[in-house]
Amino acid sequence: MDATLIKTVNKLQDAFATVGVQNPVDLPQIVVIGSQSSGKSSVLENIVGRDFLPRGTGIVTRRPLVLQLINRSANAKTENTTDASNKATKEPETPDNADEWGEFLHIPGVKFSDFNKIREEIVKDTEAKTGKNAGISPAPINLRIYSPNVLTLTLVDLPGLTKVPVGDQPKDIEKQIREMILKYITKPNAIILAVTAANTDLANSDGLKLAREVDPEGSRTIGVLTKIDLMDQGTDVVDILAGRIIPLRLGYVPVVNRGQKDIDSRKAIAAALEAEKNFFENHQSYKSKAQYCGTPFLARKLNMILMHHIRNTLPEIKAKIQAVLAKYQIELQQLGDPLDEGLNSNANIVLNIITEFCNEFRTIIEGKSDEL
Ligand code: GDP
Ligand code: NA
Ligand code: MG
Repeated sequence: MDATLIKTVNKLQDAFATVGVQNPVDLPQIVVIGSQSSGKSSVLENIVGRDFLPRGTGIVTRRPLVLQLINRSANAKTENTTDASNKATKEPETPDNADEWGEFLHIPGVKFSDFNKIREEIVKDTEAKTGKNAGISPAPINLRIYSPNVLTLTLVDLPGLTKVPVGDQPKDIEKQIREMILKYITKPNAIILAVTAANTDLANSDGLKLAREVDPEGSRTIGVLTKIDLMDQGTDVVDILAGRIIPLRLGYVPVVNRGQKDIDSRKAIAAALEAEKNFFENHQSYKSKAQYCGTPFLARKLNMILMHHIRNTLPEIKAKIQAVLAKYQIELQQLGDPLDEGLNSNANIVLNIITEFCNEFRTIIEGKSDEL
C-alpha cells in the first residue's frame, strides 16, 4: 500500500480520535472472487505483502476470511497480550515486541507474530468447522493484522466458484458458494477483484459473470488476470487489456503469482515480485506496457480508487468536523471561564491538525488523480 496514503489517512484518523469522532473514513472492502484455484489467495497475499494465507491446488479456501488490516504506528505501546509463538515454543522466532502481528477473533488476546502460525491457525480453524474432506462453511474467520505498513482496511478472501461437489461438499455447492460470495460483493462499498486465470477462457470467467450481476456498470470491478506465465507460447492477453474482449471500466491487470513449486520451496514474496517484474519487462507482448502490468500496478490502482473514495467523502468529513468544533465552542462558552486556557488550546490544536490534514490531502489527490 502507498506509504503517503497510509500516513495521511492515519493522521486524519488520529485527529478524529482526538476530537472523539469514530471512523470518519469508511474505506471500501476489497473482495476477491473467481473460480477455484484461479489464484485469489495468491493475489490477496501479494497485495498485503506478507505470507500468511493457505494456497494451493484444489479447494484450499473453504470459509470466508475477513482480514482487517489495522494501521498501528511502529512506536505505539504494545498491548497486554500473549504471544502465540511464546506459547508454542520456548524460543520465539520473533520477539515479543514485533511491530506486525495478527489476532483472531476466535482466540482473543493471543498475538501471532509468526505469520506461518497464522496460516496454520487458518487451516486448523477451517478444518474445525468444515472437516478435512473439502467441506465448506459460510462462517467467516476473522483475522486482524496490526502493522505500521498497512492502511486500515478490510480485505475478504473467499472460496472459489465450483460446480461439481467433491468429498463432503453439499450437492448444491455451486449455489452455496454463489450465495456466500454475493453476500460480500453486493455491498456498494465493496471493490471487486474478479480473478481469472489467463490460461482459461475469459468469456467463461465465473468471477466476471458474478461481478456483472451486482456491478453491471463495472464501476467497482477490477479484472485481475493471473497465471500469465502459464499461457501457451504465442498467446497473450493484449486484446483483453485493450478492452477488446470484455471491456471493464476500471480495466484489467495481468499478474504473475508464485506457482505451486515456488510455494513448496517457500519462495519469498520479494523474490516473487522481482521475478514478476522481470517477466513483464522481458516479454515480447508486454514489455512496451510493463508499467501497467504486475502486482505493484494493481496495488497502485487500488490506492487510487481508495483516494477517490476518500476525496468523495471529504465534504461529509468536513461537515462532521465542523459540527464537532461547533459543539466544542458552545461547551467552552458555557464554561465561561476565560482563564481556562487548557481547553481552549486543545481545541485549537485539533483545529490545526485537521486544517493541515485537509490541505495535505488535497495536494496529494491533485498530484495523483491522473494516474488512475
Ligand atoms: P485460489 O484457490 O483462487 O485462492 O488460488 P491459490 O492462490 O490458492 O492458487 C492456486 C494455485 O495456483 C497454487 O498452486 C498457486 O501456486 C498457483 N498460482 C496462482 N497464481 C499463479 C500464477 O500467476 N502463476 C503460476 N504459475 N501459478 C499460480
Ligand atoms: Na486453491
Ligand atoms: Mg484461496
